[in-house]
Amino acid sequence: MSTSTNRILFVDDEPKILKALARICRGEDYDVRTADTPEKAVGILESEPVAVVVSDQQMPGTPGTTLLSQIRERFPDTIRILLTGYTEMHVAVAAINDGEVYRLLTKPWNDDELRATLRQGLETYDMRREIERLGRLRHEQNVELQRMNEGLEERVRERTQEVKQKHVELRRAYVETVRALAEAVDAKDSYTRGHSERVAVYAARISERLGSNRAFVERLYLAGLLHDIGKIGIPDAILGKPGRLTRKEYAHMQKHAQIGARILEPVSFLGDVVSCVRHHHEWYDGSARGYPDRLRSSAIPYPSRILLVADTVEAMTSDRPYRRALPMDAVCDEIERFKGSQFDPGVADCFLEIAEREGDGFLERTSKFDLDCFLGDIGDRT
Ligand SMILES: [Fe+2]
Ligand SMILES: [Fe+2]
Repeated sequence: MSTSTNRILFVDDEPKILKALARICRGEDYDVRTADTPEKAVGILESEPVAVVVSDQQMPGTPGTTLLSQIRERFPDTIRILLTGYTEMHVAVAAINDGEVYRLLTKPWNDDELRATLRQGLETYDMRREIERLGRLRHEQNVELQRMNEGLEERVRERTQEVKQKHVELRRAYVETVRALAEAVDAKDSYTRGHSERVAVYAARISERLGSNRAFVERLYLAGLLHDIGKIGIPDAILGKPGRLTRKEYAHMQKHAQIGARILEPVSFLGDVVSCVRHHHEWYDGSARGYPDRLRSSAIPYPSRILLVADTVEAMTSDRPYRRALPMDAVCDEIERFKGSQFDPGVADCFLEIAEREGDGFLERTSKFDLDCFLGDIGDRT
């Protein structure tokens, strides 16, 4: 490849001129070729790369401009110089204007001028090849860069997927831990087994019906699981008492709301359910029947208002030591009766609408919460 950069080809039908031209290059680091016909010139070009070709214009058969035009077509890298007499100047000028040749030299030539032109021609040839090489290099680098980018995007996609998966696993472990905790509390009393899970599910379903977003439903579900966690601090004798509680015992029982909030307060990832748990027994009218803070209407956290309805529904539809489970009709009557006093009217209406449509099916179909679907949604959100 390197030999191509200094090869010069002279084309002239007169051997004397070819000799004279070759002589001019003596002492230079040029690889000189000569051809006394256009055909031979093309033969040389076909066999080896040529940097500069200097062709006579007037040759039998094919004129120089025609030869250079052919060279331009077939060997575009080769620098083309036309050697011509004054009488053919118009042909030569046209060849320059048409872009067929790089330079024009007139006969008789000036040796220094010819040497300078050859040098420039070789430099131009080298420069063009260098530009081409850099262009190719840039193209290759672009291709490589693109390939690397694609690889990077793929890796980012894979990592994102892994992180999502880890996030879902973490959430699952976290929800299951909370569930286990809730079950432990419910197990203190055989009558309340499964109570927290069902309250959580009912509350989640009501809030879905109310049009809440997934994050809110999730928070409510966890708050439902944990709403009675404070019962850990209530003596078994009170929790499991078969008959009615005395006033004192009832006052003690009421403390479970505050105890629950206190238990959850230090747990950072449960921070947003603390208030829901504390206020799940407040009455909507702010009366003394609610506890612990006698909050009223919108001052009660919205999740707590939903929990209260779900809690009531679950308690009424479960067996208790002092009574059997009540039918859905009785539950609806109770919710209707205390709508606006104990219950948020909007939440109560929402439940009544669901109960009217689903009847007892509300209790059956929602007895198990679709954790996978729930966690799947969380995964999609991240
Ligand atoms: Fe409670
Ligand atoms: Fe409860």
